[in-house]
Amino acid sequence: MAIERTLILCKPDAVSRNLSGEIISRFERRGYLIVAMKLMQLDGERARKHYAEHDGKSFFAGLVDFITSGPLVALAVEGENAIEGCRQLMGATNPLKADVGTIRGDFAQSIGRNMVHGSDSHESAERELAIFFDAKDFVTRKHDLERWIIEK
Ligand code: RTP
Ligand code: MG
Repeated sequence: MAIERTLILCKPDAVSRNLSGEIISRFERRGYLIVAMKLMQLDGERARKHYAEHDGKSFFAGLVDFITSGPLVALAVEGENAIEGCRQLMGATNPLKADVGTIRGDFAQSIGRNMVHGSDSHESAERELAIFFDAKDFVTRKHDLERWIIEK
């Protein structure tokens, strides 16, 4: 059993369209636990740090412009294999390739406005969570973990 923590962002398009609650509820319904959450607007420096792996690519400037264009909701989500599981709920990066039933397949039309971010590996999750949250921002949900997630 691998209990993991991952970074989810309801991107500015999701907040602007009043769909952040709908998106968050999909992670909650799966049983993942929210252990930190913030409504915030990113500045360019933090956005470039978050998306550093894409620096130099043709879409990088547009990506930074978009992610800083309005408020987003950042969440730390915890659960069994949560990194891969949350990516599964999000669907493919390009909404046209995302299955219907996933967040991107249901709510997005284009790759540049795809509603949601989720860390793609353990290393990314650790690095990205530290960009958005301090240690004091996390709550403990030990009882919920034991009740709902950890099988006896
Ligand atoms: P994210 O990081 O936002 O969760 O998305 P992802 O892992 O599914 O995809 P990634 O390859 O990390 O790309 C980050 C974001 O950059 C935009 N993108 N545009 N025009 C393009 O070819 C292109 N490729 C990527 C997308 O908004 C993607 O979510
Ligand atoms: Mg990514």
